[in-house]
Amino acid sequence: MNVLILFVSTGGCMKKKMTIPEILKMKQNGQRITVLTAYDFPFARLVDGGGVDIILVGDSAGVVVAGHDTTLPVTMDEMLYHTRAVVRADPKALVVADMPFMSYQTGIEDACRNCGRMIKEGGAQAVKIEGGSNLAHVIRAVSAIDIPVMAHIGLTPQSVHRMGGFRVQGRNGQAERIMDDALAVQEAGAFAVTLEGIPAALAAEISARLTIPTIGIGAGPSCDGQVLVIHDILGLCEKYSPKFVKRYSDLAPLISAAVTQYVAEVRSGEFPTEEHSFSCGSDEDNQ
Ligand code: KIV
Repeated sequence: MNVLILFVSTGGCMKKKMTIPEILKMKQNGQRITVLTAYDFPFARLVDGGGVDIILVGDSAGVVVAGHDTTLPVTMDEMLYHTRAVVRADPKALVVADMPFMSYQTGIEDACRNCGRMIKEGGAQAVKIEGGSNLAHVIRAVSAIDIPVMAHIGLTPQSVHRMGGFRVQGRNGQAERIMDDALAVQEAGAFAVTLEGIPAALAAEISARLTIPTIGIGAGPSCDGQVLVIHDILGLCEKYSPKFVKRYSDLAPLISAAVTQYVAEVRSGEFPTEEHSFSCGSDEDNQ
């Protein structure tokens, strides 16, 4: 039934909606998977237009959008709001929504209900859950009700207090524990796993051993894909800039300059002019 296959015109070529099986195939074919975060409609359109395979509605929204120091205060309602805004942009990329702190750690029933809300009310195609062997029972239960789960191991920002800060994991004899986490989440049914803040050599070993794709952030070049926070690559997060971030643009000074010019023009009377004003005469310029 060809009605089941949706295409969109993108400058002459047709792009299909990304699916979980396609993501799995990319690993098998040795194609690198591209992931960026987005938290709202305009950024979802821009990120999708740039051709990413996956949009992650990250709980990093709590830091880069809401201004918290950690992701811990982020709520289900906030993640649903961000996810809906991203989905409204109708992206061709797969939309993965982050599960916020305490939405899945309290047991299988809470986890299934909240992950279900992210799919049913948020419109995401998959969810992301932080945790390895300790959360394998949750990943198994959520995957078993056909909600695809991307796991997240290594430096898991929701574990900031246990880690004593945002520290690289898997050093000093801890590599085996991270490898065990990777194997546990794969065995539990995760379709992919984010590897954050671990040595590149360990990430390479995990990526070679797993059959599911690894998506790295601060985990070196050998992962099956890479993810970064959109505000970081655009120079919009001036608070901190970790070593693993590459800044592809420096938008903050451009935005500041535009705001400064607007303020000056309003104060001087240079804006608005007739061009930006309505006349009495006609209804043709109502917008
Ligand atoms: O919340 C987020 O944006 C993330 C990525 C940084 C992996 O979890």
